[in-house]
Amino acid sequence: MPPGSPAVSVVGFMVACMESCGLFISLEGGDGAGKTTQAQLLAQWFRDQGRDVVVTREPGGTDLGSELRRLVQHGQDMSARTEALLFAADRSHHVSTVIAPALDAGAVVITDRYVDSSIAYQAGGRELLSSEIEELSRWATGGLMPHLTILLDVDAATAAARAGGNPDRLERAGEDFHARVRQVYLARAAADPARWITLSAAASIDSIQGQMRAAVTAHLEGREGTGTL
Ligand code: TYD
Repeated sequence: MPPGSPAVSVVGFMVACMESCGLFISLEGGDGAGKTTQAQLLAQWFRDQGRDVVVTREPGGTDLGSELRRLVQHGQDMSARTEALLFAADRSHHVSTVIAPALDAGAVVITDRYVDSSIAYQAGGRELLSSEIEELSRWATGGLMPHLTILLDVDAATAAARAGGNPDRLERAGEDFHARVRQVYLARAAADPARWITLSAAASIDSIQGQMRAAVTAHLEGREGTGTL
């Protein structure tokens, strides 16, 4: 493999960091973007290179989070602020009991949704103040942000085609809601290209994963430390 090729860059990063360097990646996107499948494939790629990997998700990456997930998705109706607080509670527990310990141990952490979901859904979708959701997120996480966030951008037609038969509270929120969610994601990704990679979720699973691995490799070059909000 010639120097400078993606695989060599990743190996270089692995050697430089040895076991002490955690890597925090979040996957984001609208409902039906295929994040779960892509997270598993990305995790396998890292494992094949000898890294410990923790794949997790929000809401519901912990036992407590599973209960909160049931409430926000299938519980009784609630105010937008209540919903935002439940997601923040899930995230806070997730960071302190799963994400931070794994990063401290040098693992690669891949989470299916994180802070940007709250900004897209509760600020964009529910139209709460973005600055307030950011502050709430900062408080809940202690400021821990991903090194890298991958947006699987899903258009309305693709999302509708992939929708299941039993929509939850968020999936029932309507077309305008989901259009706002998408716009917030795209705007945040455009504003911070050092953290974000944007890929179209309409491509095939293999094609998306290939693009993702190449983009992750490129982003790993030169990174240091853990991100902060
Ligand atoms: P999930 O089944 O994980 O959705 P998907 O498979 O599309 O990722 O359900 C999570 C739902 O919760 C999804 O509709 C997005 C929403 N959500 C928020 O509204 N705010 C948040 O902070 C998070 C983490 C998720």
